[in-house]
Amino acid sequence: MLLDAARTAATHAYAPYSRFEVGAALSTPTGEVFTGCNVENASFGETICAERVAVTTMVAAGHRSIDAIAVVGSTDPCWPCGACRQVLAEFGCRRVIVDGPEGPMEMEFTDLLPHAFGGPA
Ligand code: THU
Repeated sequence: MLLDAARTAATHAYAPYSRFEVGAALSTPTGEVFTGCNVENASFGETICAERVAVTTMVAAGHRSIDAIAVVGSTDPCWPCGACRQVLAEFGCRRVIVDGPEGPMEMEFTDLLPHAFGGPA
């Protein structure tokens, strides 16, 4: 299950500054799974979120479409930040799954980022 892959990815988080560890796992429409964790930096602004690590890993492997992404954090639910939502929109993400207090919670991506910017016409 995608949440399990996200939990495993979170164990690799490099978060010595915030101590907030995040893991993400996304699936493509053809069933491939790519994972990511947050990677922080002494220059704080260079930090990259777990979701964007998963997306860049997917693209580097030759895929360009996201079906679903699961995210877990040190505190749950851990919904993707605004920057990550914009990056997820680029690749057509359809669903987002997080760990909730009573189990998994799922939302349609368009409910998390309505009217997403899609570039010049
Ligand atoms: N973080 C993520 O990895 N994903 C999010 O959607 C929100 C925040 C990370 C960035 C930083 O390393 C830590 O969580 C605290 O903000």
